[in-house]
Amino acid sequence: MKITVVGAGAVGATCADNIARKELCEELVLLDIKEGLAEGKAQDMMQTATLLGFDTKITGSTNDYSKTAGSDVVVITSGIPRKPGMTREELIGTNAGIVKGVCENILKYSPDAIIVVISNPMDTMTYLALQSTGLPKHRIIGMGGILDSSRFKYQISQRLGCSPADLNAVVVGGHGDTTMIPLIRLATWNSVPVSNFLTEEEQQAIVNDTMVGGATLTKLIGTSAWYAPGAAGAALVESIVRDEKKLFTCCVRLEGEYGQNDICLGVPVIIGKQGWEKIVDFTLNDAEQALFNKSADAVRSMNDVLKTL
Ligand code: 2OP
Repeated sequence: MKITVVGAGAVGATCADNIARKELCEELVLLDIKEGLAEGKAQDMMQTATLLGFDTKITGSTNDYSKTAGSDVVVITSGIPRKPGMTREELIGTNAGIVKGVCENILKYSPDAIIVVISNPMDTMTYLALQSTGLPKHRIIGMGGILDSSRFKYQISQRLGCSPADLNAVVVGGHGDTTMIPLIRLATWNSVPVSNFLTEEEQQAIVNDTMVGGATLTKLIGTSAWYAPGAAGAALVESIVRDEKKLFTCCVRLEGEYGQNDICLGVPVIIGKQGWEKIVDFTLNDAEQALFNKSADAVRSMNDVLKTL
């Protein structure tokens, strides 16, 4: 098994670190355009191998895509991150060109790869990757909903004073501060709806805090977060390479599911060795479906910007 992570910034390097620690592949390539960055981080990670006890061989490359040849899975994290006060959507002009170029280079050397998109604005970058490569839809997966759902569980756990591991909660829709939809109605604490323990106001506060989860961290840190995005990317890769059939919210192409077409948006999907294997399409209530439609409208107008670039 060979995995490539494109972009050796904080998110890419953290994702690679998690992939190595979990020994998801024999060979892991980290690639970046910045001279020496990927090589340096790869060496640094390799120097943890005896301490952490993993056997994955990590190498770095400065923009030499031939080193990525034959990758089974490629994670794209390239592009500029958010600065405080910026939305993910403001990155589109710069990141669209970068992501398109990366996809072309990757497919030259790994025509069968499954592509995981983390670059922002993630829903539009996933759509762009699909449009520009013409790959079968199952092979392009946007990572956003897994991260947002993990942040959602964190927020619930803080209010309930419980372990996040005991929670089941899901965020669907776009991966944007105003487009994501934390489905609080369906959130449970070991199967018991959290509405049994939280007031309406508390539930709304959790939803609001989840939606600005990334922006809150950007304000605190001065740039985009990386621990949870990197770990979420690795969890997605794990379900692919181990064929786990995990049910994660991921950004995938919709063809009628949830009432939407010709768009990539976060919905629950089964992830396995074919990429995303099945959309779990269930009926949202009227209010949730209205939010989903509004989220789709916002993402669709962002996708329209691609035509002007
Ligand atoms: C985040 O939400 C990087 O989009 C990512 O932190």
